[in-house]
This record gives sequence, C-alpha cells and structure tokens, in this order.
Amino acid sequence: MPALTDDKVWEQFLEWLPLAKPSTDPGNLFGQYRSRLMALSLREDEVDGYLAVVANNMRTRSDGWRVMFNNIYASGTSGFSTVPNALLMATVEERKPGRALDVGMGEGRNAVFLALQGWDVTGFEISDEGVAIAQQNARAAGVNIAVLLESNETFDFGRAQWDLIVATYAPFPLTTADYVQRLRGSLTPNGLVIVESFASDANAPGRRPVDIDPINLRRAFDIFRILYFEDTVAMPDWTREKTRLVRLVAEYRA
Ligand SMILES: C[S@@+](CC[C@H](N)C(=O)[O-])C[C@H]1O[C@@H](n2cnc3c(N)ncnc32)[C@H](O)[C@@H]1O
Repeated sequence: MPALTDDKVWEQFLEWLPLAKPSTDPGNLFGQYRSRLMALSLREDEVDGYLAVVANNMRTRSDGWRVMFNNIYASGTSGFSTVPNALLMATVEERKPGRALDVGMGEGRNAVFLALQGWDVTGFEISDEGVAIAQQNARAAGVNIAVLLESNETFDFGRAQWDLIVATYAPFPLTTADYVQRLRGSLTPNGLVIVESFASDANAPGRRPVDIDPINLRRAFDIFRILYFEDTVAMPDWTREKTRLVRLVAEYRA
C-alpha cells in the first residue's frame, strides 16, 4: 500500500473516530486506533508514523477534539469527575466573586460550582454535546451561565475582562505566544488563573495533546505572582490512575 499523505492520515482518523468504542480516556482511543491500523497489516513503523501525524494534529487542530469529545459525552460514561475541581474550590473559598471564564468547560462542573458561589460565569467548549450537557447541568442547578460553542483558537478573550480564568484538563496551547498573550491580557488586575492538567516534559515521547510541560506553564505566567505551583503524581479528575499532574494558581499584577 502506498504511503498516505498527512492529510489523508488525518481524514481517515476523523472518519474512524465516531465509530470508536466510547472511552473517557483519549489515550484509550489512540490505543484502539493503533489496534485498528495494526489489523490492516501495516508495518509497526508505518503505524507509529501515522499515529505521530494524528497526535500532532490533535495538538494543533480542533476538528479532532470536537469529534472525540462528542463521543465521550454522548457515551454517558462516568470515567471522569463530575464534582468541581478541588484546587478551584479551595482557591476561590476566600475570594470575592466576580467574572469568571471556564476554558474548555466540558459538562460544566466547574462553571456550575462557580455560579452557585455567586460568580458571573462564561464558559466555552468545542464539543456540542458538552455544551448541551453544560446547559442542562446549569438549568438543573438553577443557575445562569453563558455557555458558548467556541474554541481556544477563535474565542475572543477580550481585555481586562475576567477576575478568574480556570482551565482544568483542557488543551492549553502555551507554546502559542499569541494564545498566552490574549489570555494574560484578558485578566483584570489581581485576576487569577487556575490550571490543572496532565503533565509531561515538552520533549517526552508519547505526549498526550492535553499534557502541559510544567516549565512552560511557569514560564507563561512568570510575570504573575505564583500563589501555588505543584508538579506531582496524584489521582487526576480524568481517568482513574495516578499520573503526573501540574497545578498552578497565579495572580495577575497589573
Ligand atoms: C478532558 S476535558 C475537561 C473538561 C473540563 N474542563 C473538566 O475539567 O471537566 C477537555 C475539554 O476540552 C475541550 N476542548 C478540546 N479542544 C478544545 C479547544 N480547542 N477549544 C475549546 N475546548 C476544547 C474538549 O471538548 C473537552 O470538553
């Protein structure tokens, strides 16, 4: 079989993805795709090459994420936490509510929590299934949240808008200078950013698209006051195995 172009590899992956066995672990979906490619009698190095193209596109494009998370949310499986993130809860305990933004809000567990605490919350999310469930969850909790079907790539963070930005287990394109600048500039003086996600070194093999390099994360917020930083091994909110995580709470100093 002739080698496929990168575009063709990606196209075939996107065609297969809706048919995958639902899993809340993106790593599991990649594993399923590897098995499928192996079953096509491809050589192992070809399969590795195709998976590298897929992993790279998952990092740089948003169309794959939408399909993948539509799958996950439509499956109704509960392999991830539906209660608010613990770092977020602890951090806002003593904080006066203001305007909050939830990046890649998923089903809205953090957004609903913040709204119940009196925050004026906006969340955006690339999966339409996620958006629909977040809206249902807000209604069920009796709170109003602005829920937007948007992506990191297109969302207008605005300027000096947010007293809090939270991003838990959401893609956080730190190496895109423009993204970090948009995000930093959108915080009010003393505004907080709270991040928690899977961690790995930037050059580690087999990195997942949601992985954050702790050094890059610290560097992205080096002009902030770091209130909390942790590079640790702990139980994540997504998936059920202890793994390396990074956590950051930083305050913007105007
Ligand atoms: C692992 S989930 C975490 C969801 C939520 N933050 C939580 O902690 O429950 C990652 C979320 O990011 C969303 N996402 C992925 N790529 C995105 C993008 N480019 N822009 C916005 N959201 C994105 C996914 O659809 C998914 O809902």
